[in-house]
Amino acid sequence: SRQWRGVIREYADRLDVSDATPIVTLGEGGTPLIPARALSDRTGANVFVKFEGMNPTGSFKDRGMTMAVSKAVEHGAKVVICASTGNTSASAAAYATHAGIQSAVLVPEGKIAMGKLAQAIAHGAELLQVQGNFDDCLDIARDLSANYPVHLVNSVNNDRIEGQKTAAFEVVEALGDAPDIHIVPVGNAGNYTAYHRGYREEVDRGESTRLPRMFGFQAAGSAPIVRGEPVRDPDTIASAIRIGNPASWELALAARDDSDGYFGAITDEKILEAHRILSAEVGVFVEPASAISVAGLLERAESGAIPAGANVVLTVTGHGLKDPQWALRAADGSDVSPTVVPVDTAAIADVLGLAS
Ligand code: F0G
Repeated sequence: SRQWRGVIREYADRLDVSDATPIVTLGEGGTPLIPARALSDRTGANVFVKFEGMNPTGSFKDRGMTMAVSKAVEHGAKVVICASTGNTSASAAAYATHAGIQSAVLVPEGKIAMGKLAQAIAHGAELLQVQGNFDDCLDIARDLSANYPVHLVNSVNNDRIEGQKTAAFEVVEALGDAPDIHIVPVGNAGNYTAYHRGYREEVDRGESTRLPRMFGFQAAGSAPIVRGEPVRDPDTIASAIRIGNPASWELALAARDDSDGYFGAITDEKILEAHRILSAEVGVFVEPASAISVAGLLERAESGAIPAGANVVLTVTGHGLKDPQWALRAADGSDVSPTVVPVDTAAIADVLGLAS
C-alpha cells in the first residue's frame, strides 16, 4: 500500500502546475465515498456520500487551498488573504503556515463556528472579525488584494476551483463512471462550479459516459441564486453558507445549464432534520451546511425528481466536530442532556436495560 500524496501530486497532469511550483500539501483529497443505505432506502436511489470532512482541516476547502497557496508561493506571495464563513480561513491558515508565509482572514463578527475560529487562530492567522456579513468581508478582501501586496485565496481565485475539481475525478474513479446526479451545498457556488468542471473534463477525456446533473442547495434565508437576486441580510443556522451575493454566481448558472441542473432552497428546520438522519442512520457527522445535501436529496425525492435506481452522490463538505452544538438539540428543540449514573455496575446495567 502507498500513502496518498495530496491532490496536486495525484492529479499533476490535470492541474496548472510545473516543476517551478512548490507543492504545499497536507495530504488533502482521497476522501471516502460511502454507500448510504439508509438514504438509498428512503429514496429508491443508489446514494453515496463523499465525506469531505475527512480532509486535513476538516473541509473540502483544502483541495482548493493546496493549489491556491502553492501558486501564491510560486508567484512570490508573502501574505495570503481571504474572507470566510470559517472553513476557508481554517484552511488558508493551515496551508499558509505550512508554507512558511502569513495569512490574514476576515470573518463576520460572531457568525462563524467556534471550531473554525479556533483552527485559524491555532494556525497563526491574523484573524479580524469584521462588523458586517460575509459579503462585506469578501468585498474588502478583494479590495485589499487589488491595492496591497496580499494574495487573494477565495474561490474568485481560479486556482481554488481547479483544486476542488479533483473531487469529481475521485468519484468517477470510485464508481467507474460519473453518477447520474451530484448534490452539493451552495454558498459562493464555487464548489458547484468545481464539480461540474471536473465532471465535464472527465467526459471530454472519455473517462466517463455521462455528465451528472448538478443539484445545488441554499438555505432558505440565504438563497440568492434561487430567488434570482442578492439577499442583503442572509440568515441561516448553517453559518458556512450564510452568503447573500455568491462570488461564482455566473459560473454556477452556466454549470447548471450545461448539466441540466437545479438550484433549490431548504429551511433550517429541514437542514437540522437531515443532520440528525445523517448522524443517526448513516454514521457520518457533519456541520449543518453539509447536511443540506441530504435535505436536498430528500426534497427532490419527495418531488419525484430522483429516478429509481439512479446513482446519486452527495458531497458533505465539512466535519461535524467544527460545529458540534447542533447534535445536542433534540428534534423537538429541547437540550439533550446525558443521564448521570453512580459508580455502580448493577445500577448502570439497569439504566441500560440489560438487567431484565
Ligand atoms: N459547505 C461548507 C461546510 C462551507 O464551508 C462552504 C463554504 C460551502 C459548503 C459552500 O461552498 O461557497 O463553494 O458554494 N464556505 C466558505 C468559507 C464560504 O468561507 O468557508 P461554496
